[in-house]
Formats: sequence, structure tokens, C-alpha cells
Amino acid sequence: MCGIVGYIGHEDTKEILLRGLEKLEYRGYDSAGIAVLNDNGVHVYKEKGRIEALRAIVDENVEATVGIGHTRWATHGAPSRTNAHPHQSTTGRFTLVHNGVIENYEELKQEHLANVSFNSDTDTEIIVHLIETFVNEGQSVETAFSSTLKVLKGSYAIALVDKKNKETVYVGKNKSPLLVGMGNGFNVVASDAMAMLQVTDRFVELMDEEMVIVTRDALTIKTLDGEKVEREPYTAEIDASDIEKGTYPHYMLKEIDEQPLVMRNIITEYQEENGKLKLDQDIRNAMQEADRIYVIAAGTSYHAGLVGKQLIETIAKIPVEVHVASEFLYNMPLLSENPLFVFISQSGETADSRGVLVNVKKLGYKALTITNVKGSTLSREADYTLLLHAGPEIAVASTKAYTAQIAVLAILAVDTARTKGIELDFDPIQELSIAANAIQVMIDEKDEIETIARDYLSVARNAFFIGRAVDNYVGLEAALKLKEISYIQAEGFAGGELKHGTIALIEEGTPVIALATQEHVNGSIRSNLQEVASRGANTCVISMEGLNNPNDQIVIPAVHPYLAPLVSVVPTQLLAYYAALHRGCDVDKPRNLAKSVTVE
Ligand code: F6R
Repeated sequence: MCGIVGYIGHEDTKEILLRGLEKLEYRGYDSAGIAVLNDNGVHVYKEKGRIEALRAIVDENVEATVGIGHTRWATHGAPSRTNAHPHQSTTGRFTLVHNGVIENYEELKQEHLANVSFNSDTDTEIIVHLIETFVNEGQSVETAFSSTLKVLKGSYAIALVDKKNKETVYVGKNKSPLLVGMGNGFNVVASDAMAMLQVTDRFVELMDEEMVIVTRDALTIKTLDGEKVEREPYTAEIDASDIEKGTYPHYMLKEIDEQPLVMRNIITEYQEENGKLKLDQDIRNAMQEADRIYVIAAGTSYHAGLVGKQLIETIAKIPVEVHVASEFLYNMPLLSENPLFVFISQSGETADSRGVLVNVKKLGYKALTITNVKGSTLSREADYTLLLHAGPEIAVASTKAYTAQIAVLAILAVDTARTKGIELDFDPIQELSIAANAIQVMIDEKDEIETIARDYLSVARNAFFIGRAVDNYVGLEAALKLKEISYIQAEGFAGGELKHGTIALIEEGTPVIALATQEHVNGSIRSNLQEVASRGANTCVISMEGLNNPNDQIVIPAVHPYLAPLVSVVPTQLLAYYAALHRGCDVDKPRNLAKSVTVE
């Protein structure tokens, strides 16, 4: 989703901004722009499409040491050069980039900007006009900036430059992520540390309704009422090489391949030297006290939550409800007496999940966030955090975060069961390392899976994944992965439910891929497969050793049935990857999608 960069220092600003924007490309965007300031004024370059296209129009001779940049994922107004950021005030004095959504922009327009003419269809443009209006009314730029932020309703991360002052970048945030970074003789602004790792790894977090006056030598954080805030910087623990593709053609393939390593990282991070599980006592207590767990998540993380429900209910014997974040906010179920909220989010920034978190904190409930990003908003604002240790996930289609989420949920379930004194014959550390090896076996079978993808999916119009019990949940994830990157209309279905309507869609050649890794439903899922095969479906089975039939197309190595989703999902990730590739799709940057969905 939208990304912001800013720089003030002594180096070639346009290059630092463009490189920063390239690092934010993975978040998804449809247009981009930069503005740089020098003695000749403000130079704004904007373009629809990729950063490459923007780079092509930036004057390579423009020299400047301060500037801001933006990648835009359209919300208000179509993706276009005009709607791309930066936006400028009427006189061109102020130039601004913004992430988020301003909910009261129509009211503000009517109240303060009746005589201003607008260039774009964005909500953002009102912000820059408001600042200029307040300055014209006699306020200092800093006061006009804070007065503007105070009247905005909604979410924002903003960076502003003033043509009359090349010494300052003004920054503010509410609900949308934003960091300031520190260097020697320079400072930076970024919505994601990755954008500025090229120049610094020292960052300062910003809280909601704070602003920062950024100069070459100082960062002054203030509340919107002007009170100074002291905050220590932290070092971002991201290895810059982790965010490079290396020799891989796509991040998605690299991240699929990293899954065995991620499993091993999780084992290391969650195991004490004596072999016991390592978890904060506070988290243990919260799990013990909960009479019901409410998992809140979106997309792939929601699918991991469904598998987590199965694990926690079966192993730790606590009832679990799993909710789509965007629905929970407006359609809250009746809560139990002592609920614990568990937020699952790769990015830790998903606005829908954050909306729920803010609400449940107001109601006084405890929250645990399971995330890949240390210091992310959901992590900071929850009472407890469990990290995924998956390393940065860059491809829009989530793969290694999904398997990491399931692994961490399995550890949480077992730790809770052990604390409760429940006898188990399941050792998560041992079983996770068996699963890691099984994932590797699947990855090594890439070529065979590519052939299956070509045979089943290269010209398919639609496709179905069916499964029963936990395999049903893996089918939902498999379908999401396939549709988001290959644009094949794909659905995941409970095997037994097809005949209640959806079977009408099965025609000659429709691909139906069944997941069959659970012994107690092996017979029934195979019957469901027969039902569709006899109506012309082109069937394919992903089963597990010991439960497989001789003709099954993909057989995963035998793993503990609780952890089968960790392994069975891998061939479905590869099927999606190769199907997208064969259909000529942009695997890492699928259309209309964003990596970090920071608007509701
Ligand atoms: C799909 C995908 C999305 C995310 C969803 C939630 O491949 O990545 O469905 O899972 O947008 O994002 P996080 O986990 O960052 O909250």
C-alpha cells in the first residue's frame, strides 16, 4: 500500500528517494512521485505505473539535498499522474505526500477551502491547501502544520516541504505507519524501515498524533499541542541482504524456498537450552486466564488462524473463534467473560485488524499480536507479542509468513496445554523439524509441480480446491494464492459442501484439486472427488504418505497430522506460482493488490 520516503542531508536526494521507493515497491502501488527542493524551487516528478517509469522522467541533472517521495495505491481517485503524490498548494509553496484516508475531507473542503480550486480527485490535496490557508491567515508553518493535523479525521502519515525553507521536512502521523531515521549529517523519513536501510539502520518510532520537525542535524518530536517528546532510537534488525532477491527470479519463489529455514529459526527462537518451550510468563498467564480466544486477522493470516483454532482447541482445549478483522469491527459477536484477543498479522500494520485492536483495548481486554514485524503498530499496541522470525516477506503473496504463523500457533497451543498440565504425545519441536524436512522435499519437487501447474492451470478459467477438516482450511489458502497471482477464479471448499450448489460449476476439464492429509476424512474426501470426476472435472490429489493412493499426483512426506498444513500448502504455493508464471502474470506485484493494507 502507499509508501513514503523523505531525505534531508548532503547527498543526491533524487537517487536516495528513488531507491527508497524501489524498496517500497513490494507493498503494492499504482503510481509514484518525488519532489526535490533546490535554489531554483521545487521540482515535482510524478508518473502512473512503475518506479521505472518515474525514474525515466526525473531530470538526471537536478541537484538537491532535500526531498520527499511517495508510492500511491489508489483509494480516492483513479490511478493517474494527476492523482499521484506529491500534491502542491495553490501557490506551489507547499508540497506534500500522504498515506491513509481522510474521512472528513468533504467537510473540511466546504468549511475552509470553498474558494480553492483542486487539481486532483484525492482526499490528500485538501491537506496541503489547508496548510497554505492557515499560513495565509498568519500562522507559522509549524503551527499551520499542527493545526491542520488536528482537524483531520482518519488515518495519515504525512511529509511536507516548504519552498521557502530548504532546511526542514515536516512530518506527522496518525494510525498509518511512519518512522524517522537518523544519520550522520542527514535524517530520513520512511513508512517502512526497508526503504531507508540503504543509508541508516537507526530509527525512531512515532506514535499517533505526533509530529516531527526534521532538519539535517536534528529530529524534534512533538505532540500536536507542541509538547516535546524524547524518544530513544532503535536499530532495525533487518539484514539488507534479506531484502534482496539474489539469483531468484521472484521474491515469491525465494520466500517459498526459505520455509524450511524459517521453521528452524522458529525452533531456535522458541526453545530453551533444556529443550522446554520459551514463552513469556505473561503470555502463559493470559492463555490460562482466557475462557475463549478470539483470533482476528485478514486474508492469508485469517487462514492461518483457522488452522490455529484447530490446534488450540485440540491441544490446549480452549474454545477459539476466528474472525475476519474487517467484519468484526462492525459485527461483533457476543463475547465470553474472559476473552483473549489474538491478532495474527504478517505486517503488523493491517488497518482492519488495528481497528479491532483499538476497540478491544478500549473495552479493557487483553491482546496478543503474532507478527513478523517487531515494533509494528499491532505489536506496539497489544499487551503481548510473539514474533514469527520469518525474515522480511517482500512478495505480495504471503507464503513463509503463513507457515510461520501456523508453527508459532502450534507452539503456543502446546505451551498452553503443558502449563495446564494436559498430557500430550506431541512434541512440537521434534514434529516441526520433521515438517521442515518434508517442506524441503516438496520444494525439491518443484519441476514436477511446475508440470502439474502447466497441465491443470495454464488455460483454466476457474479452479477448485476441496478438503475436509483442516485440509478445508488449507484449500481456502490455496485458492487465495492461486487467484491473487494468476487471476484464475479459484475457490476453496469443504468437500462435503460442494454438492449443495457449487457442483453446478463443474464442467468438462474444470480443475479440482483435493487435499487429503487427514486419516479420519480420507475416505470421504475421495468420494467427493469421485462426485466431481464423474461430472467431468480434471482432478488432482495432494495426499500424505501412508494415506495416498497409487495415482495421487502429489504425495507429501508423512508428518504429524496437526502439522500437515505446513507441508501440504507448499505444493499449492508452487502451483500458484507456476500457474501465474505460465500465464504471464507479474508474480511479485499482482494487479490491484498491496502488501501492507493500511486502509480500512
Ligand atoms: C495474501 C496476503 C493477504 C494478507 C492480508 C493480511 O497472500 O498476503 O491476504 O494476508 O492482507 O495481511 P497481514 O498478515 O499483514 O495482516
